Amino acid sequence: MKRTHKCNQINSSLIGQEIAVAGWIHRRRDHGGVIFFDIRDEGGLVQVVYNPDLEDTFSIAESCRNEYVVFSAGIVRERPEGTVNDNLSSGEVEIVASDLEILNHSKPLPFQLDEYTSAGEETRLKYRFLDLRRSEMQQNLRLRSNASTYLRDYLNNKEFIEIETPLLTKATPEGARDYLVPSRTFPGSFFALPQSPQLFKQTLMASGFEKYYQFAKCFRDEDLRADRQPEFTQLDIELSFTDADEIMNLITEMIRDVFKKTLDIDLDKFPKITYREAIEKYGIDKPDLRNPLELLEVKSLFKNCDFKVFNDPANDEDSRIAAIRVPNGKSLTRKQIDDYTAFVGNYGAKGLAYIRVEDPSKGKEGLQSPIIKFIEDEIIESLMKNLDAKEGDIIFFGAGKRNIVNDSLAALRDLVAKDLDLLTCEWAPCWVIDFPMFEKNNSGNLTPLHHPFTAPKCSVEDLKIDPLGALTDAYDVVLNGTELGGGSVRIHDQEMQRTVLNLLSIDDDEAEEKFGFLISALQHGCPPHAGLAIGFDRMIMLMTDSDSIRDVIAFPKTQTASCLLTDAPGQAAQDQLDELHIRFHGLEKEE
Ligand code: AMO
Ligand code: AMP
Repeated sequence: MKRTHKCNQINSSLIGQEIAVAGWIHRRRDHGGVIFFDIRDEGGLVQVVYNPDLEDTFSIAESCRNEYVVFSAGIVRERPEGTVNDNLSSGEVEIVASDLEILNHSKPLPFQLDEYTSAGEETRLKYRFLDLRRSEMQQNLRLRSNASTYLRDYLNNKEFIEIETPLLTKATPEGARDYLVPSRTFPGSFFALPQSPQLFKQTLMASGFEKYYQFAKCFRDEDLRADRQPEFTQLDIELSFTDADEIMNLITEMIRDVFKKTLDIDLDKFPKITYREAIEKYGIDKPDLRNPLELLEVKSLFKNCDFKVFNDPANDEDSRIAAIRVPNGKSLTRKQIDDYTAFVGNYGAKGLAYIRVEDPSKGKEGLQSPIIKFIEDEIIESLMKNLDAKEGDIIFFGAGKRNIVNDSLAALRDLVAKDLDLLTCEWAPCWVIDFPMFEKNNSGNLTPLHHPFTAPKCSVEDLKIDPLGALTDAYDVVLNGTELGGGSVRIHDQEMQRTVLNLLSIDDDEAEEKFGFLISALQHGCPPHAGLAIGFDRMIMLMTDSDSIRDVIAFPKTQTASCLLTDAPGQAAQDQLDELHIRFHGLEKEE
């Protein structure tokens, strides 16, 4: 008893031959007297027919249910006219069975494998082994494997070497919370799982490996969203003796190569836009350039306007007033506009002013809006001119604190484009460059936009004088509004590294304690270097057009960072806790 063919190898060239297949019963149909199975293996499906004249085989077929694992042999024959299935590679033929053996039984399934949409994600994750049998998930994981092979080939051909770095390590400052692992041998001490291999890859540059890469597992305990997992994979890359342009060229070519080889898609140019331009035009540093809508700055027009909603921000340094002109937006209903107003409210916006342009030649008379009655005629006139308003447009306005206007209008821009089907192309990659080195957090302290090892473009002296004005040699690669990856030229000069850390209120002792080994590597002949990391799961999510990275990870975690399949995280036994010197405070440990 041996399988002779996989389902995707079966076609009309085998007609008349005896073959054997093995797989799952995808579908079983009893046509009163004749039983049909669609048998599925990892390659596809084949139809097998069981006739009642072979009594033993037929009675086994009668006892079978969906998802039983079976072996079946028989003769390949042409399907009767009218029953050919063009969707199957084996669709012109069927096997007339002479043998059937049950290799394993299956309980009734908690959900149908071909109708997964009816199953909630919780059920899919709890029975992930079944969910992964679905062809969509099979294809996603196969594409993931192919893509990683092409990426490895690409980098290996360019003489990169793959080096693994530790998972039990110290904290890496990437801005999220660490996952900690208690040490048994050092009571009271903890390893941190790496948020990225950043410190190690820089150390490898100091060790003389000039081109490194790694498919690296990273761990970040942060709020989860559709494109974030607590445990995810980066394609992590670092090079010595290089610069930002060389890295961006290399990665552009690499991404184009993997899209071409995996999906036969030719990605267009990767335009470069500065961080500042991105925020001004799109309100966000990962703009979806398939979307033609832009934010237009109109703050200066309202400096002397009586309408308080606009006048206050117009005269406040930290505020902005921006407009989005939506050509032919007149089709938006009152109800949609009310929904948009509630939507921007989620981002802190206090309202959403709008103007419908009915006939621009009639001045104010030709406009319809709840706000124009509060605004002087001359201001309206210059506003319409500045925005180049046309008949049929609807113009939305956001006014208020800069970050609220940016966040709310960036999200509104995406939503309106989706609702009105405005996207101009399928793929729009870009590089975002010239990020500021620091921003202020809510407590007013400096925090790095990337990480504290990113090289500022200015001198140590200038950085000290104006840290918030300093730009860096950092670059993010963005595809269709998703940040695919990011990196930077690194600091390799100890004086600059110390200055940056001191600006972040990390003194020499703390720096020594946190990442002394990297500082020491910088002090012992470290070459100039730069790198980047691609979020591999996100790349596959976009390539497979999945809504969530959970659909491209075999065993993902839920929004609350648990694994429903294994029921992790779980309780630890008392003797393990004792060994680790762990006792709980304020939390009753369930027995
Ligand atoms: P960064 O923090 O930008 O940079 O991460 C690089 C890329 O990793 C992906 N990513 C994630 N994917 C899934 N789930 C997450 N929780 C998650 N967090 C990040 C994103 C992101 O662009 N060490 C630097 C890289 C460098 O400077 O070389 C770093 O980790 O796609
Ligand atoms: P109000 O004076 O709050 O009734 O607002 C008058 C109009 O301005 C309404 O159409 C609001 O939606 C709009 N509006 C209020 N606050 C803002 C804001 N911060 N940005 C844009 N429009 C706003």
